Amino acid sequence: MRVLSGIQPSGSLHIGNYFAMMKRMIEYQNSSDLFCFIVNYHALTTVIDGKTLAENTLNAAIDFLSLGIDPNKSVFFVQSDVPEVTELTWILSNQTPVGLLQRAHSYKDKIAKGISPNHGLFSYPVLMAADILLYSGEKVPVGKDQKQHVEIARDIAIKFNNVYGDVLVIPEPDIDKNVATVPGIDGQKMSKSYNNTIKIFAREKEIKKAVMSIVTDSTPVDQPKDPDKSVLFKIYSLFLDKNEKEQLRDRFLTPGLRYGDVKKELFARIMDYFAPFRERQQYYMNHREEVINILEKGAEKAKEEAGNLMEKVRSVTGLNYREVR
Ligand code: ADP
Ligand code: TRP
Repeated sequence: MRVLSGIQPSGSLHIGNYFAMMKRMIEYQNSSDLFCFIVNYHALTTVIDGKTLAENTLNAAIDFLSLGIDPNKSVFFVQSDVPEVTELTWILSNQTPVGLLQRAHSYKDKIAKGISPNHGLFSYPVLMAADILLYSGEKVPVGKDQKQHVEIARDIAIKFNNVYGDVLVIPEPDIDKNVATVPGIDGQKMSKSYNNTIKIFAREKEIKKAVMSIVTDSTPVDQPKDPDKSVLFKIYSLFLDKNEKEQLRDRFLTPGLRYGDVKKELFARIMDYFAPFRERQQYYMNHREEVINILEKGAEKAKEEAGNLMEKVRSVTGLNYREVR
């Protein structure tokens, strides 16, 4: 089973990224054929400073490796190292109805926020479809916000195959219901763009500040609290097994619980959980050459796969005009 997903190098990784996507990708390494990439072409839609994009790309790779991506068990690379993906994007564009892209939630949300859209933002889902289809991804682990993008990739692949025959593998989104949407410290979806994240690799002080500012309601200490409405409960649950979660639920329902105490415990738990990864990150930060080598080796394998698919695509679409010779 080919499992594949990408992440944008557009800022610091947070626990929403980790639990919804990265942790699961890392688990898939052992049971499937995994392609994992840093989507720097996509990040061009938001990061306009060249130096920042380059740094973010290398940092995203360092972070992924530190969290456990193993280049011996997966194909790990940077999107732009396989520029065939832009060629496939153009070809797929011709099988992509404008209406399909106009209905994309992520695009509509950005417009609603007053962003004046350019073509890159509009065709973002086509580039993502190319990412998935170029490597024949069958299962795509993502958070719930990306479900529609994967469905768009499906629609485009089906349309392409109807026209040109069975060339593309039809992908499926893979979403973990328990962590479909991780709330941010303000209760909205946790997102780099909302400034409401708990970052995995930030300084201890910054993580503490974020955890201590998780929104809570004003239920008095001597009253029971509702765990199902609590952002603090939801975030803490990510780090707990079933029994521990039940225990926390009981504590919420028992009068006397102080949110401040729970936040301090959660902070300690987070630091504990990520400690080994944070240590590894320090190693990779000091061995950037090694990281670049890993990415280049990954790109070689990805290029081979991309080349095989593009050969078929060029042939069925008629781009390989020499075939009529
Ligand atoms: P952000 O919204 O912070 O910019 P990205 O769009 O880069 O995050 O998302 C990277 C991956 O993490 C995607 O698979 C996305 O679905 C997932 N993800 C991001 N934020 C959350 C969240 N709050 N809850 C669940 N999954 C998330
Ligand atoms: N759009 C995805 C996000 O913002 C990133 C992405 C790009 C992706 N290409 C992909 C995810 C291919 C899965 C598969 O999170």
